Amino acid sequence: MPGIKGPSDYSQEPPRHPCLQINSKEPFNAEPPRSALVSSYVTRVDLFYKRNHGPIPVVDDIERYCFDISGLIQTPKKLYMRDVRMLPKYNVTAILQCAGNRRTAMSKTRKVRGVGWDVSAIGNAVWGGAKLADVLELVGIPKLTSRTQSGGKHVEFVSIDKCKEENGGPYKASIPLIQATNPEADVLLAYEMNGEPLNRDHGYPLRVIVPGVIGARSVKWLDSINILAEECQGFFMQKDYKMFPPSVDWDNINWSTRRPQMDFPVQSVICSLEDVQSIKPGKITISGYAASGGGRGIERVDVSIDGGKTWLEASRSQKTGIPYISDHESSDKWAWVLFEITVDIPHSTEIVAKAVDSAANVQPENVQDIWNLRADANFFMLQNHQFIFMLPHMEIFFSVLTFKFVFLSVFFSLLHAVFWKVCKPPKSSAHGPATYPIIGCLISFHKNRHRLLDWYTEILAESATNTVVVSRLGARRTIVTANSKNVEYVLKTNFNNFPKGKPFRDILGDFLGYGIFNVDGELWRMQRKLASHVFSAGCLREFMMSTLKDEVRNQLLPLLDSLADTSKVVDLQELLKRFAFNMICKVSLGVDRCCLDPSQPASPLNKAFDTASEISAKRSAAPLFLVWKVKKWIGVGSEKRLKDAVEEVRTYVEGIIHHKKRKMNENREKLGEEDLLSRLIMAGNNEEVIRDMAISFIMAGRDTTSAAMTWLFWLLSCHPFIEEELVKEINNMEKSMLDYESLKGLQLLKASLCESMRLYPPVAWDSKHAMADDLLPDGTPVRAGDRVTYFPYGMGRMEALWGKDWYEFRPSRWFIEPASYHGGSLKKICPYKFPVFQAGPRVCLGKEMAFIQMNYVVASILRQFEIKPVVSEKPVFVPLLTAHMAGGLKVVIQKRNDSR
Ligand code: HEM
Repeated sequence: MPGIKGPSDYSQEPPRHPCLQINSKEPFNAEPPRSALVSSYVTRVDLFYKRNHGPIPVVDDIERYCFDISGLIQTPKKLYMRDVRMLPKYNVTAILQCAGNRRTAMSKTRKVRGVGWDVSAIGNAVWGGAKLADVLELVGIPKLTSRTQSGGKHVEFVSIDKCKEENGGPYKASIPLIQATNPEADVLLAYEMNGEPLNRDHGYPLRVIVPGVIGARSVKWLDSINILAEECQGFFMQKDYKMFPPSVDWDNINWSTRRPQMDFPVQSVICSLEDVQSIKPGKITISGYAASGGGRGIERVDVSIDGGKTWLEASRSQKTGIPYISDHESSDKWAWVLFEITVDIPHSTEIVAKAVDSAANVQPENVQDIWNLRADANFFMLQNHQFIFMLPHMEIFFSVLTFKFVFLSVFFSLLHAVFWKVCKPPKSSAHGPATYPIIGCLISFHKNRHRLLDWYTEILAESATNTVVVSRLGARRTIVTANSKNVEYVLKTNFNNFPKGKPFRDILGDFLGYGIFNVDGELWRMQRKLASHVFSAGCLREFMMSTLKDEVRNQLLPLLDSLADTSKVVDLQELLKRFAFNMICKVSLGVDRCCLDPSQPASPLNKAFDTASEISAKRSAAPLFLVWKVKKWIGVGSEKRLKDAVEEVRTYVEGIIHHKKRKMNENREKLGEEDLLSRLIMAGNNEEVIRDMAISFIMAGRDTTSAAMTWLFWLLSCHPFIEEELVKEINNMEKSMLDYESLKGLQLLKASLCESMRLYPPVAWDSKHAMADDLLPDGTPVRAGDRVTYFPYGMGRMEALWGKDWYEFRPSRWFIEPASYHGGSLKKICPYKFPVFQAGPRVCLGKEMAFIQMNYVVASILRQFEIKPVVSEKPVFVPLLTAHMAGGLKVVIQKRNDSR
């Protein structure tokens, strides 16, 4: 057909929401998590189940797109989109459901054939288009006709797509003519779904919607309409979607003995208890959907919490503010009904729901009664989960038997009872800590406040999706995730919905101002573009390389040499921090030098940076943000120190900017300065933006590399064999001088650094704030304003991502062939599984620079020196803005015997 084609391969498939659970990739068949179904009455288009039989058709010219109406009629006709749009437009709210919905459950009784569906091959949408009854009038078939003059009794819809069941031919299906010509049946030729043009997965540009009937009759990508004497002879009418009794199997089946299935039966499904593990005894809310075919309303939904012995009636709803009455004119007769009930559940129970429609049809009690070989119309009572409860979190209550907490527990239990109705916990598929009305998880949070990283890691590991929802008094609702699909969604797929946001700016704004680290939107985009340009310029890399060589050769190695001679204990972390500070100041500002020797005082600028970043970080960890806000307002304590430190940093950087500008004005012909500041000035930026950008860069580059190297040296001291292998790799390099190219060959070193950062990431967690309601790929609902935290520290410790030996420092896991890592190649690890440098559009700009620097410094040190920690206990990881080792890493330096 002109203007549209059905491809023969899957190379032009449309993008799809990552949270869909894929039941078959080609053709694409997928359903959303159950929570998406009950989160709104009208299902979002991207979360609507996708049911396909072949590659998705492609429209190349909508103006030329048309379809034929022919067969047993007097005046066949070709209709274009404009002809359909000329007819009165109707919006019909109707569910669409695959007849195989819940096939997986039926398969558990006895094997069935077909795509396996959970309970979500259903959705409710507002379909916009012309009534088929009006369209058929254009070819001379009056309303309410059951037979045309030429004997036509059925209307066949033929699609443009190609499917294997039809031997590469198009998908097709039919409905009786009387239904097609009955305006009350609301059969549509739809071009809109939820107010927008249909998308490709749902039949763009035109599809059929047959309300109340199994989805297989609502043909997509309409290519032609035929008026036939008999029903359509296609595969999906004759060899599928028929209801056989349980005695019929694939050996004795006779397809012609049964009619094709049309209306779907009455059904209800519980959607809220998706994650059985997260249910605790006490009050729970049970919600789901109920629907019946043929436009019959839902008279009742009954829920039983004792396996069907006794029943309670659930409340039903469609549109907010309008009470639902089945078969009333205010109700959407083709749509589903959402039901909800709050019940008190004991320790162990079985919860089931059943719907009764307006014709008194009752949902079957069990699957055996309705088993059929294709598992069609499989709508028995769900769900027969066995919930076995144990008293959760007992140890928490025992350990908080101080007066303070006993009082709190009693007080809040009372509040619990009173406020239960107004403070229902959010519906979510994710796990979380023990949470109470009003206070949320404050008790667990308080108990674990000194070990938050490990606490979060533990509850994430317990969660089936490695995601938890944390709500506590005084803090916004926070979703913490160690799920790589969620991380990809937040950092890349729906990047625009997850900016750092105002809460982040509130905390760091006083220090970082409008610097790249602290802004979103256009301001960020502009700085990112400028900075990416500068970072990718070869001359900045050359400048960085020559600065690095100079700092290592003339500062670092001589200092280590003298420390080795005196066998003095030195804080390696402080030494490396000062080294990184010098490097980043030189690269960003072109000046400054802090004395490397930790026994000497650090430069005032370095100290001011330390103070400002530490106090800013503590703001974000404060249990109540009001405390620091009040201190800031009065100008006392830590907030006063922060103000002074920020002023010192800004005055210093502004001084350098003025000095640089003066020099550049005096010496116009020599503008080729290599440092970042000179480049920002040359680009003509506003002075405040230049200052804040430079501060952001120093902030980003100063403690991150030193933290990574400190942890690596400690890990190597615990794994001498790996250190030996590293020294071999470094000494095996052809060139005795390290340079940019030779550094790239140090694969084991890179793997060791990655492995060290997996366990001890320099940025342990990082948060974004949702602009609008959303749904993460694992089904966790996000509300506008929620904090979404991705958690590299926890991710490095997830068995699901790194295997059972996640806790081992094993650089070989980064190699394609772990057994032969000398000369071997490194694996490409998904950046959303290892988001240590963040990932997506906001990925760390200094990643390459950081690796060069770390490789160079570690290789230079290991080549000549051995680092011997003087403490044997495991160091403590502290996550401030950038993480560090509590108390530093005290070591003695020894010269390596075989050093070159
Ligand atoms: C091991 C070393 C490093 C690690 C693990 C690291 C990690 C990160 C992370 C996680 C972020 C995202 C932070 C956020 O959005 O809140 C980031 C951003 C950034 N990093 Fe790094 N970083 C490292 C070294 C460096 C270095 C040496 C520089 C520069 C000289 C640098 C420059 C930046 C910049 C400019 C951003 C902001 C990017 C943006 O917002 O568009 N980083 N880094």
